[in-house]
Amino acid sequence: MNANWRAQLGRIYAAPDVGNQLARYRRALERFAALYGAGPVSVYRVPGRINLIGEHTDYQQGYVLPAALDKDILFLARRREDALVRVHNLEENAFPPREFAIAADIPPYPTGDWGNYAKGPAQLLARRAAAPLHGVDLLIAGEPPYGVPRGAGVSSSSALTVGAGLVLSELNGLGYTAAELAWLSGEAEWYVGTRGGIMDQFIAMLAQKDHALFLDCRSRGQGENGLPQFQTELVPLPQGYNLIVADTHVRHQNVRSDFNVRVAEGRIGVALLQRRYPELRYLRDLEGKDWREVEPLLPEAMTWADLDRAGIRLNELIDVRFPESAAPFRVRQRCRHIVTENQRVRQSVAALKAGDVTRFGALMNQAHASVSVDYGASCDELEIMVALARQVSGVLGARMTGAGWGGCVISLARRGCESAFIDHVRPGYHDATGIWPDIFVCQAGQGAGLVESDVVA
Ligand code: GLA
Repeated sequence: MNANWRAQLGRIYAAPDVGNQLARYRRALERFAALYGAGPVSVYRVPGRINLIGEHTDYQQGYVLPAALDKDILFLARRREDALVRVHNLEENAFPPREFAIAADIPPYPTGDWGNYAKGPAQLLARRAAAPLHGVDLLIAGEPPYGVPRGAGVSSSSALTVGAGLVLSELNGLGYTAAELAWLSGEAEWYVGTRGGIMDQFIAMLAQKDHALFLDCRSRGQGENGLPQFQTELVPLPQGYNLIVADTHVRHQNVRSDFNVRVAEGRIGVALLQRRYPELRYLRDLEGKDWREVEPLLPEAMTWADLDRAGIRLNELIDVRFPESAAPFRVRQRCRHIVTENQRVRQSVAALKAGDVTRFGALMNQAHASVSVDYGASCDELEIMVALARQVSGVLGARMTGAGWGGCVISLARRGCESAFIDHVRPGYHDATGIWPDIFVCQAGQGAGLVESDVVA
């Protein structure tokens, strides 16, 4: 590793971190050589993300405004002649090695196994490819403090899927654009069992330093290769302000099933609304309609018996199963969140472009109330963290980010109040919960890509 590396990493990371990052890359390269033998290796990286605003809107074709973290996962890869994918992780105890062959039908590991995040894109790319794909020897490095915090709602798992897809696509010369790979990675992630949208994958691929990314999750048509195209716009983050990330360290066990229930509730809402608005396909289609006219068409809550009576068969709306003992589906308030959240994203983009940071902070606060009360995706610890953050002078807005039920709070804060934030929020949160939170400033980072090809490990 030489001066080129230093320069290259300087383009990706903040200047004070470059030395430590160099050491991190060096350790990973040494481990790669020890595992797979000396020879050329290509190094890619994929960042985690925060979402500034636009929560749970993407899977209803709405709007989102995420930014990349400067924390990332490294993917060191060497193409193989056969179809085998061998995956090692630097943190081998938590993530034991996995090995499988690329094919159009790859049997999954048990639910929750980390290897499925590599199998998903491998299967999808194999299905689309004209010729059999080459496998890879892969080393994944996402260790703290530079890796993407795991289970914290900042998309470490999407980063895995995006990275595996990126590596396989590049080393097989498949020629997908960044946006196409983002979309394909979103599809690939369904392999692991969640029914998420495309936000995490798009920000991982398309992020630019110091910018958020406005993404319209409704495709505006197909490209020549049949893949959907999306409208995106980079929005500069306000100067003189920081986004402070505070990790509650709460990891909800049932995020996957709660998440899928929310997806189902939205789809029930769409099915009901189609009776009045036959052209409606997603809640996004309600844009421009008066919510006061829509709301009475949606019941507050529906039991399984209510669904039956209304002629709605859930298994036709979503391909995951729910226990029939599940709590009633709270259709009206879930839909209200998504509809109003889409409006807040558009208003946020306008506020940021106009330099109205105070307005944006207020919208963040409203978004939190909505996702917490209407969408029911918060938890006690998130509420405690949000309340503490808002008590700090210089904080303009604070909200949970990501899927919810735990994970992180982001706060928009005037630059210079980071220490006051930490001094107030850390002990306050510990007093209330017994948990020490992690708090760091998000330097909105660069999207995924190749760092260096054919380095000799
Ligand atoms: C998860 C999903 C995303 C999005 C968010 C909530 O991160 O993967 O697609 O739905 O939750 O905004």
